[in-house]
Amino acid sequence: MKDIIEELERRRAEARLGGGIKRIEAQHKRGKLTARERIELLLDDDSFEEFDMYVEHRCVEFGMQDKKIPGDGVVTGWGTINGRVTYVIAKDFTVFGGSLSQAHAAKMTKIQDMALKNRAPVIGIFDAGGARIQEGVDALGGYGEVFTRNVMASGVIPQISVIMGPCAGGDVYSPAMTDFIFMVRDTSYMFVTGPDVVKTVTNETVTAEELGGAIVHTSKSSIADNSYENDVEALLQMRRLMDFLPSSNLSGVPELPTLDSADRVEKSLDTIIPDNPNKPYDIKELITKVADEGDFFEIQEAFAKNIVIGFARMEGRTIGIVANQPMVLAGVLDSDASRKAARFVRYCDCFDIPIVTFVDVPGFLPGTKQEYGGLIKHGAKLLFAFTEATVPKITVITRKAYGGAYDVMSSKHIRGDVNYAWPTAEIAVMGAKGAAEILYRSELDDQEKLDARIKDYESRFANPFVAAERGYIDEVILPRNTRVRICRALNMLRNKTLENPWKKHDNIPL
Ligand code: HXC
Repeated sequence: MKDIIEELERRRAEARLGGGIKRIEAQHKRGKLTARERIELLLDDDSFEEFDMYVEHRCVEFGMQDKKIPGDGVVTGWGTINGRVTYVIAKDFTVFGGSLSQAHAAKMTKIQDMALKNRAPVIGIFDAGGARIQEGVDALGGYGEVFTRNVMASGVIPQISVIMGPCAGGDVYSPAMTDFIFMVRDTSYMFVTGPDVVKTVTNETVTAEELGGAIVHTSKSSIADNSYENDVEALLQMRRLMDFLPSSNLSGVPELPTLDSADRVEKSLDTIIPDNPNKPYDIKELITKVADEGDFFEIQEAFAKNIVIGFARMEGRTIGIVANQPMVLAGVLDSDASRKAARFVRYCDCFDIPIVTFVDVPGFLPGTKQEYGGLIKHGAKLLFAFTEATVPKITVITRKAYGGAYDVMSSKHIRGDVNYAWPTAEIAVMGAKGAAEILYRSELDDQEKLDARIKDYESRFANPFVAAERGYIDEVILPRNTRVRICRALNMLRNKTLENPWKKHDNIPL
């Protein structure tokens, strides 16, 4: 028996070494942790249960029959994050560069299948060189199997990808189909084809960082949702994120204890709106003053900053927040902001997360750049997403709600459940100056007359009462009471039941 146990220990130790000490040291020298070190940081202490650590590839091409390393480039299993079951797939770059063989893919799909069957999230940690070149079509087929499961699990269990090294070829498409992608600055990059291929095909000279580094993907392409300084920070933030997310689309949102009272009145909100309507204020200040303990997990912080999205809690329960940001482009809706918020709204709706929307929007951004870039289609995404969402939807108009953007930002007309306005709200087709200039074009030369027209338009529309008189706004609330009113509304909506007509799926303008 002793021999048998010793043999087990020997095999375990061998598997845990992955590609060997030298490659582990090389990994550390690059500022990266190994797959197992990452899992240890991500999961609760001693909670990791590893599967398939002895799996080896079965390739006999290019002398591969003599190169076998137990685990085959990916560490898989499950554990807990703050007590909740989470499945993990972590690429091991020290073994064949984390490249994907048929056996490696089978380890991944086993985890994906278990996670779906048992309705718990999957976190994938990527640090890999794509398809195992020696395996050819077996590797490509393996990717297909992984992709299929990504799609089947979409909207059922949360799927999160953390990019912590190279992520090329087939490896980019699995993360691309998950809910969120996070990257580590300076050590991670994602691209379909690397700098060498780019040079050959397009004659463009570009570095890996310029082509697919964290800055590019968080601020330009919007492929990644946030980036972090190093592996440790990224993994700790993932633990924080998972506390906001439900385990599945049927589990309901997590409920955490909070010391923040639902009755907390926030007097400073009464003065957050500047006297001058053209002066900005920071919507994030409002969000952190309203949310439980000021805790806000922002998503896509570096992209389309004119809209802010992210998770917070009210009375301990997760909500999704969508808010125009007056500090950037006056909070206008453009194509990027619309796409960004639409995907987030759909995420919340998939997973039964109530949506709270703060509105201060001067309209859609005019111009050829936007129109040629498909503003109509991208704006429609947000309109579509808010309209189809059946989760509780609470809207607070703090200042401007002009034109089509008023409708789009979770208005009553697209099934907003509780729609509040602050006394400072202005709900109109457009700003008073623009409106007067169009309605009284013949008076453009007479500034005095025009000013009177502007004042008249302002007094008639630059307030929340016209909308409130029609029932489009349920109540005009004091800014200081925003948290109290939202908490009450969320409680009132706890058992909301609303179903869309049966369909195979909708046809959102992609
Ligand atoms: C087999 C691979 C490999 C791969 C890396 N390795 N990628 N082995 N298949 N795809 C091995 C290397 O041989 C090396 O082995 C070890 O991993 C580390 O790789 P290095 O090149 O030394 O590391 P580094 O300089 O850091 O470069 C990392 C890298 C580079 C940028 C990822 O290895 C690279 O470009 N790899 C190929 C990427 C690629 O083109 N993949 C195929 C994409 S096509 P030793 O033994 O020396 O340690 C694809 C199609 C799928 O994925 C499509 C599905 C839709």
